[in-house]
Amino acid sequence: MEHNIELESVSISIPSVRAGESEKRIVSKLPSKITSRGAQIHLVSRHPEVYEPCDDSFALVDALLADRTNLLEHKPMLCLEIGCGSGYIITSLATMLGDETNTIQYFATDINPHAAEATRKTSEAHGVHVEVVLTDIALSLGKRLSRMVDVVVVNPPYVPTPEEEVGCEGITASWAGGENGRSVIDRILPVVDELLSEKGWLYMVTLTANKPLQICRMMGERGYASRIVVQRSTEEESLHVIKFWREVDEAMKWQSRAATQTASDSWFSQFSRSTFWRRNN
Ligand SMILES: C[S@@+](CC[C@H](N)C(=O)[O-])C[C@H]1O[C@@H](n2cnc3c(N)ncnc32)[C@H](O)[C@@H]1O
Repeated sequence: MEHNIELESVSISIPSVRAGESEKRIVSKLPSKITSRGAQIHLVSRHPEVYEPCDDSFALVDALLADRTNLLEHKPMLCLEIGCGSGYIITSLATMLGDETNTIQYFATDINPHAAEATRKTSEAHGVHVEVVLTDIALSLGKRLSRMVDVVVVNPPYVPTPEEEVGCEGITASWAGGENGRSVIDRILPVVDELLSEKGWLYMVTLTANKPLQICRMMGERGYASRIVVQRSTEEESLHVIKFWREVDEAMKWQSRAATQTASDSWFSQFSRSTFWRRNN
C-alpha cells in the first residue's frame, strides 16, 4: 500500500514498508515524471536515521521547479547536492532536467552512511545515475570537481542548537546547526565557492534565524548576486530558498548597496525572526 502525499506543487509516494522490505520491491525503474504540479518521486528506502522529505525539502524542489526554464537554458553539465538525505532533491532535479543523452553528471554527498545508501536506492530506482560520496560537506570532491559544478543544491542543517550537537551522528546531523543555525552553513559556503563553475548557481534553504541577509552579504563579497526564489512563512516562521550566482560586476554593486542599506530596510526585514522549524519539538 502506498501513501500519496500531495503538497502545493509536489507529489511524493512513500511505500509504507521499512527499508529492508522496500529493497525487495524494486524490480525495475520506477516511473518518475514532472507534472504541472511538480516532481513525482517515490521514496523507496526509509531509515529512522535518514531525514524524510519535509516542508524545507519541498520548498527547495519548488524553487527548482519555479526556475526550471532558466535551469534548462543554463544547460548544466554537472550538478551536486550537499547533504542529500533520502535522495529526493537530487532525483527530483535530475527528473526535471531530463537528459535523454546522459550528458549531465550528478553527484551527492552526505556524512550519514544511511543517507548515502538511501540516495543510491532512490536515484537508481528512478533510473538516475548519481555518484554518492560519503564525505563532510564535499571536501573529498574539492580537487576533482574544482570550478566544475554548474548547479549546487543544499538543504542544510539550519536549526539553531547548542554547538555540541553539530556533527553528531545519524538523524541529529540533519537539523543541528549550532549558533544561529549557521555552523554548517558557514562551512558549506566557501566549499561551494570553490566548486562552482564560472556560470555556477547555488540554491540553498535558509531560515530567518540564520540571518540570510548576512549570508547574502558574505556571498556578495565573494562576487555573488542573490535572490529569493521561494519563500514560505506563517505568523511565526519563515523559510527561504535563495539562489546565488556569480556576477563579476555584482560584487561591486553589492558592496555599494550594502554600505547604504540598513538591516531594518532590508528585503528580509518583512519576515518573522522566529524559527520555521518544528521537527525538533
Ligand atoms: C535537512 S537534511 C536534508 C536532506 C535532504 N537534502 C532533503 O532536503 O530532504 C540535511 C542533510 O545534511 C546532512 N549533513 C549534515 N551535516 C553534513 C556535513 N557536514 N556534510 C555532509 N552532509 C551533512 C545530514 O546528514 C542530512 O542528510
